[in-house]
Amino acid sequence: MATRSKPRTVHRCVECGTAAPRWSGRCGGCGEWNTLVEELGVGVPHTADSGPRTADTPVRMADVDPGEWAARPTGLPELDRVLGGGLVPGSVTLVAGEPGIGKSTLLLQALASVAAAGARAMLVSAEESKQQVRLRAERLGAVELPNLFVMSETALPAITAAAEELAPQLVVVDSVQTIFDPQLGSAPGSVAQVRGCAQRLVELAKVRDIAVVLVGHVTKDGAIAGPRVLEHVVDTVLSFEGDRHHALRLVRAKKHRFGSTGELGVFEMADAGLMGVADPSGMFLGDRAKGVAGSVVVPTIQGHRPILVELQALTVGDDIAMPRRAAQGFDPARLALLLAVLSEKAKLPVQRREVYVTAVGGVRVTEPGADLAACLAIASALWDRPVPPDVAVCGEVGLTGEVRQVAQMPRRLSEAARLGFRRAVVPASCPDGPSGIVLQRVRSVGEALRAADR
Ligand code: TYD
Ligand code: MG
Repeated sequence: MATRSKPRTVHRCVECGTAAPRWSGRCGGCGEWNTLVEELGVGVPHTADSGPRTADTPVRMADVDPGEWAARPTGLPELDRVLGGGLVPGSVTLVAGEPGIGKSTLLLQALASVAAAGARAMLVSAEESKQQVRLRAERLGAVELPNLFVMSETALPAITAAAEELAPQLVVVDSVQTIFDPQLGSAPGSVAQVRGCAQRLVELAKVRDIAVVLVGHVTKDGAIAGPRVLEHVVDTVLSFEGDRHHALRLVRAKKHRFGSTGELGVFEMADAGLMGVADPSGMFLGDRAKGVAGSVVVPTIQGHRPILVELQALTVGDDIAMPRRAAQGFDPARLALLLAVLSEKAKLPVQRREVYVTAVGGVRVTEPGADLAACLAIASALWDRPVPPDVAVCGEVGLTGEVRQVAQMPRRLSEAARLGFRRAVVPASCPDGPSGIVLQRVRSVGEALRAADR
């Protein structure tokens, strides 16, 4: 009689999914410490036995139905903006965020909106009971909707069976880390489970043409708990960020198979759910203290929309051998480059000082158009002299200290003018702005420092 071999155990990193034959303190894949966990039954192969699948045949390009990928709006404008119109049938979207940030709220609002528009929408709550979900729905005014369904279930086969029977347009699984597939053997939340379940749901989406949204909890260090491997399995990854103690919430796409990743969705958490913010610039500048050194406003473009963002800088000490440089919402490598230019080309004594730069409000400013504003914020902090509060600053800074043109200047300047800015420090070749805003055209960082100091 052939003896069955013991189920093979393996140790797998919960951060990156790398497998190791035995436990070790550090993952050989990503180098993280204490992330290896024992996993049982990893030998179980993933069988794609869900429904009949026929091989595809080539068709003429012109015969491809374009409607197949058409996004359907969720009805929440700020979410649709980030998604490039809405959710695509047959696609899988991962919404990642820290616990308590508002993922369940946002997605229940999306489900309710889809259901209110007449399509079936189904919530799979694997963390909360139906009663808890109903309480939230009451808060959001999403109870009396005949097309909105909810099930409280953690077993994947029951979930897929229910979705196949109900045939909804949208299924939300809250959360992907708490569901499990008994076929896979290992514990819920393990890498094999999270990945296996996600793959099954991808199949469900594709075969049944359902838009599936998975909620994923993010651990403190920013990696999606369970594995980052999920990001490769799904079509779209949205990150949902904000400070739990403040109302502002930002949604952006980290990966998007059906559109750009540049759009920013801005929400405010209110008593009856998440409200889209119609005027993000006004919101981001709301708490701004005027006439303070180290603060400069830059008109950025986030996706298709101009948004004004305040950059703040702080310099500390004047003779530090190994000064610290840190940036929040601003690229640290860019900061290092700008400090080198300020030091060499504008003779600003920054080498032996600590320098900190942040973008206020949790926004991320990644475009080079914010270079000049960062430079002026640093100089203003260093000199302890405020940049006048009605001055906006925009321009890219090159290594020779030159100030370069950035795209979409007229739209940036119009937004600045709308928010009450009367002057703007801009690149020399900048086209004329809207009336009511005076342009101070500059060729170099040195010239900009002098212009803003007036
Ligand atoms: P929740 O959506 O449960 O967060 P997550 O699913 O990401 O863990 O909501 C988190 C917080 O939002 C919770 O502390 C209560 C608050 N909240 C509101 O302020 N207004 C509301 O209308 C709702 C439903 C929740
Ligand atoms: Mg939740």
